[in-house]
Amino acid sequence: MAVKFSDESLKKFEAIVARYPQKNAAMLPVLYLAQQEFGYISPEVMEYVSQIMDVPVARVLGVVTFYTMFNTKPIGRHHIQVCRTLPCALAGAERITGAIKEKLKIGLGETTPDGRFTLSEVECLASCGTAPMMQVNDDYYENLTEKNVGELLDRLK
Ligand code: FES
Repeated sequence: MAVKFSDESLKKFEAIVARYPQKNAAMLPVLYLAQQEFGYISPEVMEYVSQIMDVPVARVLGVVTFYTMFNTKPIGRHHIQVCRTLPCALAGAERITGAIKEKLKIGLGETTPDGRFTLSEVECLASCGTAPMMQVNDDYYENLTEKNVGELLDRLK
């Protein structure tokens, strides 16, 4: 098989699975671990996860395509995820996305040619009180404006 967890990830996998009464209940953290190790969830990774989790590939595919935190193709070093749900939408999320598109010259689902940024829209990230907001990799950026979002992106190398 082409893909396989490193020894370190295999230990993490075993620790994750041990925390759940049933193996398949650990699907989300195991997929997250796979994404950390392989960068994104390719068809080969889905097949590998289905084997180690003892579930059909279709179940893995269903989970991967349901959650926006899983990427099925390579992404940039910084994955920009702008929340588009109602509170953020009312606070100007569309203008934020527009400013990012204009600055980076990419559309939704696209990656800059230098591999630095990928832009996505996602649903509520549970930070509605500081709308509009976005997540870049594991960090939240809140109370965004068209001006400060550009400055934030300039700081991300
Ligand atoms: S609506 Fe954007 S974080 Fe909840």
